Amino acid sequence: MNTAADVFDLAPVVPVVALEDAGHAVPLAEALLRGGIRTIEVTLRTPAGLPAIERIAAEVPGMVAGAGTVTEVGQAKQAADAGAQYLVTPGATDRLLDDVEASGVPCLAGAGTVSEAMRLAERGASAMKFFPAEASGGVPFLKGIAGPLPKLRFCPTGGISIGNAPDYLALPNVGCVGGSWLAPKDLLAAGDWDEIERLAAEAAALR
Ligand code: 3PG
Repeated sequence: MNTAADVFDLAPVVPVVALEDAGHAVPLAEALLRGGIRTIEVTLRTPAGLPAIERIAAEVPGMVAGAGTVTEVGQAKQAADAGAQYLVTPGATDRLLDDVEASGVPCLAGAGTVSEAMRLAERGASAMKFFPAEASGGVPFLKGIAGPLPKLRFCPTGGISIGNAPDYLALPNVGCVGGSWLAPKDLLAAGDWDEIERLAAEAAALR
């Protein structure tokens, strides 16, 4: 992982997970890997997030763990120390971007409008998250900005499912999509790793 765009090469779908139990991290990551998905975005919106990243980084070779929902100054360094290989933010402020840059970890920063995407581009980003994708205009939005902003590529996230993911992945300015459907809370709680592996294989086959 040298740049944020490298995330695009890991999987067509980045599973976005909010773990309640860090003990789920390793079996979850292993199930995703068996299904052919080589990355996981562990969000920092639960206390289990950082310990989960630590466990995956230490115990699941081949799985690239990123830290998601990075919204506050200080979290980038915490994520880097835990072993996160990339960061994802839902949106961006100058302070947050300064902090992320200081961590040295590649970041898919979030944009939901043309001006937000342009501000990230002005700071040197060419790969970014488009969030919340469906609510912000979805596929028509991305088609609309491909002409004026041809250098930018996106990871749309928010409202994406196995049903509409192919429409996004068909766009030239989409590198991958993100979604929580690969590791829903009920399957995590039940420890249904086989079903998560099946969902991962279905998602991996999208490209
Ligand atoms: C999130 O931040 O929760 C992600 O965007 C996941 O969105 P989804 O649950 O709509 O896939």
